[in-house]
Amino acid sequence: MLERSHLADNALQALHDEDYDVPFNTQSLNHAGLIFMGGRAVENLAGDWTFCVDLLDTGLRQKWFSMLPEAPENRTEPWDYDPYLGETVPVPSNWAMLKEKWYFFEGSAWYTRPLDVGDIDEIRRQFLRFGAASYDCKIFLNGEFLGNHYGASTPFCVELTGRLKRGRNWIMACVNNTRTRDRVPMRNTDWFNYGGLYRDVSFFETPKSLIKDFFLYLVPDGTGARIRAEVEIDGSAQETAKLMIPELGIEREITLDEAGMGRIEIEVSPELWCPENPRLYDVAVSYGEDRVTDRVGFRQIERRGTDILLNGEPVFLRGISVHEDDAELGKVTNESDLRRRFEHARELGCNYLRLAHYPHHERAAELADELGFMLWEEIPVYWAIDFANPATYRDAANQLQELVKRDRNRASVIIWSVGNENPDTDARLKFMQGLADTCKKLDPTRLTSAACLVNHAQNRIEDRLAEHIDIIGLNEYYGWYEENFDDLAAIGENSNPDRPVVISETGADGVIGPKGPEKGLFSEDYMADVYRKQIATLRRLNYVKGMSPWILYDFRVERRQNIFQNGYNHKGLIAADKKTKKKAFHILADYYHQIATGDEDARKAS
Ligand code: GCU
Repeated sequence: MLERSHLADNALQALHDEDYDVPFNTQSLNHAGLIFMGGRAVENLAGDWTFCVDLLDTGLRQKWFSMLPEAPENRTEPWDYDPYLGETVPVPSNWAMLKEKWYFFEGSAWYTRPLDVGDIDEIRRQFLRFGAASYDCKIFLNGEFLGNHYGASTPFCVELTGRLKRGRNWIMACVNNTRTRDRVPMRNTDWFNYGGLYRDVSFFETPKSLIKDFFLYLVPDGTGARIRAEVEIDGSAQETAKLMIPELGIEREITLDEAGMGRIEIEVSPELWCPENPRLYDVAVSYGEDRVTDRVGFRQIERRGTDILLNGEPVFLRGISVHEDDAELGKVTNESDLRRRFEHARELGCNYLRLAHYPHHERAAELADELGFMLWEEIPVYWAIDFANPATYRDAANQLQELVKRDRNRASVIIWSVGNENPDTDARLKFMQGLADTCKKLDPTRLTSAACLVNHAQNRIEDRLAEHIDIIGLNEYYGWYEENFDDLAAIGENSNPDRPVVISETGADGVIGPKGPEKGLFSEDYMADVYRKQIATLRRLNYVKGMSPWILYDFRVERRQNIFQNGYNHKGLIAADKKTKKKAFHILADYYHQIATGDEDARKAS
């Protein structure tokens, strides 16, 4: 327990100790502490939290978290921030979107709010769950440091049991979004570095023994006639848990081992999930007093040669890439924003989306399950990463495990991607091969991929990582970054991949309306022409089994500052207003609708 400190006691250390942050970087809040949340009652802690930016980490140096709540007139020390009083911000939010002076702010910021607790039921456990915090989030309860979490887009839980007081408690979060060499992603990305508590924060209680994890899936043996359930109980006392799937007439005991792990396999042939028939089943698991629920679809995704098979049938992924970005909300999303995203994807003729370049809000995969879209989900191992740094690998592997544990009951998720456009070095190969293997260990039912780069020197699809992933994702921008468009056809001829290729990105900027040029680069017409040429070339490559052009909406990014970009990447098929469609939208939609209507010849037509 950190002692309540006084400014004077800590004055010199606060000025001279540059290792002030080391005690607060345990990264002890990670995938191992995640708790399965389906159906749990939670208290949503959305609302106004006291807030203060803290560029020089004065808060950690002076130990602001150790301050006692006092009326200002009773304060005896000149603290440089009062966590209990002053400016507030709404949670969830990104501070960049709240005030002009915080737009490019990069550093630590303090969030504080009370948590009022009635009688504490000694036989229950109390937790906080953060949907995401960008990037490092240090949690304090009543002045005690409870741990920190690394990773800007994955959930984490903090156990409060035994530390809560009856009545008023105080939660403090120090959130830091500084870009550094050892983080994942590193310092240079083509999306805006939003900081803050930008997804839900909730408080919940569980029985002493709780259902920590639950994974339910169709056994990928091609029969469609066996399902498997795996459960993990924390604090297991009795020997069995119970699985219930009423519509399949299933109510079965699951025997647990001494570590609280249980697995059961049941012969049953559920109606299979697919985009055309997104069939979901209500399921429940109970253990003692604890009970969780979920809505699960059963399907099999596999690759055979260069084919991708969904429930044994070859499928072509008619996709589009999406970022989590909004002109008003930043990286905060909500039900209507997500539903609009899927409606536009439906209009485009999609059966698939690439959720780039990091784990999106968990609601996205839940909606994709319901609406019938397949998904590529990804961790932000993006461009340059400190591949030789074990701490960086630990961070990336943790973010991957948090994503897989969060979404592996989602039928819509068919691909886990371990990265994007990384340099082909030995260190990178080892790093990403390790991540791909981690995916398979945690989840044998899905395919792995990464957005690889074309070998432009050899004009060939070539990446040493390809043999360690199921699908070769390929980002290529012929007609935009690569001038000689004919090279794309040459790559098509020269390449002979033994597994499916998905064009994970292609496209061009097109600035719509008066700000855009009439013709040439950044004009809408130029963008439309790139789409026409790309489609005409790609449709002839029969090892290309899907595509997710870059990108559905224009999006904010610091590094795009020319006279047409104005702080935005304009490769969106729809402008940043998420309303105005560009010509290229209709070109891609026509192509996808040709494919969707089974006009396969159209797909290969020259
Ligand atoms: C890259 C990268 C994207 C980026 C895009 C672009 O391929 O993966 O994150 O936004 O190209 O340059 O627009």
